[in-house]
Amino acid sequence: GVTSSQPYEEFLQCLEFHDSNITSIVYTRANSSFSSLLESSIRNPRFDTSATPKPLLIFTPRQISHIQSAIRCSRAHRIQIRVRSGGHDYEGLSYSTISPSLTFLVLDLRNLRAIQVDVPSKTAWAQAGATLGELYYAIAAESRTLAFPAGMWPTVGLGGHISGGGYGSLLRKHGIAADNVVDAQVVDVEGRILDRASMGEDLFWAIRGGGGNTFGIVVAWKLSLVSVPPTVTLFTVSRTAQHKQNATEIVHRWQYVVDKLSNDVFFMVVLNRVVNPIQANATTIQASFNSLYLGSIEGLILMMEAKFPDLGLRRENCVEMSWAKSILYFAGFPLNSPLESLLDRTISATGSAKFKGKSDYVKEPIPISGFEGIWEKLKEVGVQTGGLILASYGGKMSEIPESSIPFPHRAGNIYQVEEVAFWVEDGVEAADGYLNWLRGLYEYMTPYVSKNPREAYANYRDLDIGRRARSWGSSYYKNNFDRLVRVKTAVDPANFFRNEQSIPPLSSWR
Ligand code: FDA
Repeated sequence: GVTSSQPYEEFLQCLEFHDSNITSIVYTRANSSFSSLLESSIRNPRFDTSATPKPLLIFTPRQISHIQSAIRCSRAHRIQIRVRSGGHDYEGLSYSTISPSLTFLVLDLRNLRAIQVDVPSKTAWAQAGATLGELYYAIAAESRTLAFPAGMWPTVGLGGHISGGGYGSLLRKHGIAADNVVDAQVVDVEGRILDRASMGEDLFWAIRGGGGNTFGIVVAWKLSLVSVPPTVTLFTVSRTAQHKQNATEIVHRWQYVVDKLSNDVFFMVVLNRVVNPIQANATTIQASFNSLYLGSIEGLILMMEAKFPDLGLRRENCVEMSWAKSILYFAGFPLNSPLESLLDRTISATGSAKFKGKSDYVKEPIPISGFEGIWEKLKEVGVQTGGLILASYGGKMSEIPESSIPFPHRAGNIYQVEEVAFWVEDGVEAADGYLNWLRGLYEYMTPYVSKNPREAYANYRDLDIGRRARSWGSSYYKNNFDRLVRVKTAVDPANFFRNEQSIPPLSSWR
């Protein structure tokens, strides 16, 4: 337990032995900055309570040798490492644990965030502690026609995001972030610094989507950048299920076209319960269609008129901007926001709201009656406290083989679903109410989503989907799970890098 100061003092002595200047990057609980540092990248307030298990200390390396020392000393003194890049882990596992008695430290990579963009070779080296916003900003500073196909929220960290896949508005054209990694720098359990050539193709395969905190500490990724037009088109169109706006029919129809549209279109639909725009004291179900098109407004309107006239897209719904600015658009920033907003690490997606997410994959269109049942579920929670986010698949995603990298959700998926609940109330009782509602929605979705296994997205970590590795392992990785276990067994047989949902080596097989 944490009550004994022993492991921690010996750990500090060990660190100092390796590097006498190291104390300036170690924050113990006695340090006045400990709490603010810990909280600075807790992105889910659900894991920021007095009851949340806290690390023994936070370690903020400034150079790779600091990481090597941390690994050596943690192993010697049996302290578990939780590595944190952007802190967006849905279950808070990069800075906390479900085991109250666990002694662990947080290795926080916030200071390792250098980014070097090389326009001629269309590549970039980016350190794992950089955020997506910092990456997109650095690319935009060099070129308006280069981009990287990763997530849509600026503060997400490159370390965790690419370790678990990483999708965004370019996935139908270019696949996910992990598909576009060409090299990496990793520190392994022996403290060795490895690149693609020295780690070998098995480990290089595993780190591109096989989950963070498992195979080693990723210090940097070499990314293959993609070309985008100088201006892209965005639109948001919302329809309710009332007043002849036909949300139900339009969402139903959307499923038949979305995965077959040109790869230049990405479509997201948010389904939730909102205040009725026409009758202020009532609520209604709303479907918000959010889209990016790699081309001009004219091109998009023509395509939508031909393929998806049901939506009734009009010119005034559309706006053109650079690809980098489209990230701010998706994140809900005002249209005239400066590109520098991408660099703001303090923005929060949910404010003070706690959240829980779950994920699914849809392979057959859900019938109208299925959506009507979803509306009933949404009416069981408050306005905007629960919803579903649908993200279009198809295109490039269907061309990449399932075993290309550990992320397996490829051909056959029309779209991905995220089921989510938000709440601001404190306390276990309120949380249980929302969690039970979300689990009920997930249960309701069973007949409409993938089966055997019921697939889930590793980056939307969900500790509900089974304590046994085989169970969450097949949901996240399908048939790639066995190869991940083999790689883990080869590179970290004693299971030093671990959390509640990391790939186990064969020796610790449960
Ligand atoms: P965090 O630091 O919490 O790390 C997540 C996991 O990876 C932990 O297990 C951690 O220990 C491990 N890890 C972190 N750094 C590592 C490193 N350098 N080496 C090895 N392991 C490391 N996803 C998506 O695909 N598209 C999207 O648009 C979004 N948007 C989004 C918005 C918001 C508000 C949230 C909260 C989350 C998302 N996500 C997402 C999900 C996101 O991709 C997922 O939570 C990532 O794991 C987050 O990576 P971070 O580095 O921020 O998290």
